Amino acid sequence: MQKIVVNETGGADQLHLVDFELGAPGAGEAQIKHTAIGLNFIDVYFRTGLYPAETPFTPGMEAAGIVEQVGEGVTNVKPGDRVVYCGAMGSYSTHRNIPADKLVPLPDGVSDDVAAASLLKGLTAHYLLFLTYQLKKGDAMFVQAAAGGVGSILCQWGKHLGGYVIGAVGSEEKMALAEANNCDVVINSSKDGFVEKVREATNGKGVRVVYDSLGKDTFERGLDCLQPHGLMVSYGNATGPVSIPDLGILARKGSLHVVRPMLGAYTSTYEELTNNAKALFDVIQNGVVKVNIGQKFALKDIAKAHNALENRETTGSTIILP
Ligand SMILES: NC(=O)c1ccc[n+]([C@@H]2O[C@H](COP(=O)([O-])OP(=O)(O)OC[C@H]3O[C@@H](n4cnc5c(N)ncnc54)[C@H](OP(=O)(O)O)[C@@H]3O)[C@@H](O)[C@H]2O)c1
Repeated sequence: MQKIVVNETGGADQLHLVDFELGAPGAGEAQIKHTAIGLNFIDVYFRTGLYPAETPFTPGMEAAGIVEQVGEGVTNVKPGDRVVYCGAMGSYSTHRNIPADKLVPLPDGVSDDVAAASLLKGLTAHYLLFLTYQLKKGDAMFVQAAAGGVGSILCQWGKHLGGYVIGAVGSEEKMALAEANNCDVVINSSKDGFVEKVREATNGKGVRVVYDSLGKDTFERGLDCLQPHGLMVSYGNATGPVSIPDLGILARKGSLHVVRPMLGAYTSTYEELTNNAKALFDVIQNGVVKVNIGQKFALKDIAKAHNALENRETTGSTIILP
């Protein structure tokens, strides 16, 4: 058995592959053999120390696999079941024990690779579109990183719900991908100012909701893309964390709303987790959302995967094969 360990937070060179032995699962736990691990930007935040974790730790929040053993009292899964989970640190490993109430059984129509590429990102897209704000038919929405992991799913699902989807990407090459994610308008923000382009695309009106995963560099300009009473959903910090020293900025820019949501708050019960996952698997199985796995890395090459994600070289989702 192998896992990645971070002894000190820092660069991607802090991700070390080690051998280890795993005991039997405890009461309420299941032992999983991972088949595919999801790479997420939150893994970078923990590795760098932006989000605190006690060292040493094994990063990774998401994986699919097969249940090998279950501990006392586990009834929701059994050995041989295909499962997926997210939001439980320690997925950068070949095997692990995990509380069984984190595990979602996988339907036949969803492969392990697709599950690991989509559960965390797709549950995020789900709560952004249905729970943080209930997107309505005709609502204009603006999505940063529209060719990335969360962005790809968010744009496709938002369009299916009747949204007018404006997506921004960081390079010419990513524009076609954002178009394939069903964006109505795609902006190359390395070339064009996105505020002007969003205003242009909405006849000067602005959008009902901005989904900003970039944080520090784009937050304030994102407010300028909103119509009066519009909603800024700041759900990530790829360029650094956001702070608003003066709430008056929201008044001056049109009585705006801001929310800083986290997935965990929308999947805190097993019922919420499995219901929301079912909604996601449904749109994947009926073809509304196509999960684009842009790249795969071996577990031993995890540092390369982190560097690619941080250097904006990935597209769609990335999976790690143990
Ligand atoms: N709050 C939540 O519940 C929650 C849950 C899941 C994910 N998230 C957030 O959602 C975001 C997307 O996550 P993901 O895993 O799907 O990643 P991703 O979108 O696939 O990758 C990040 C993308 O951000 C863009 N970017 C712009 N400036 C960047 C910079 N300085 N450094 C790195 N990337 C930059 C790049 O796209 P371009 O080159 O096209 O600009 C890059 O591909 C992250 O911010 C993550 O923290 C939040």
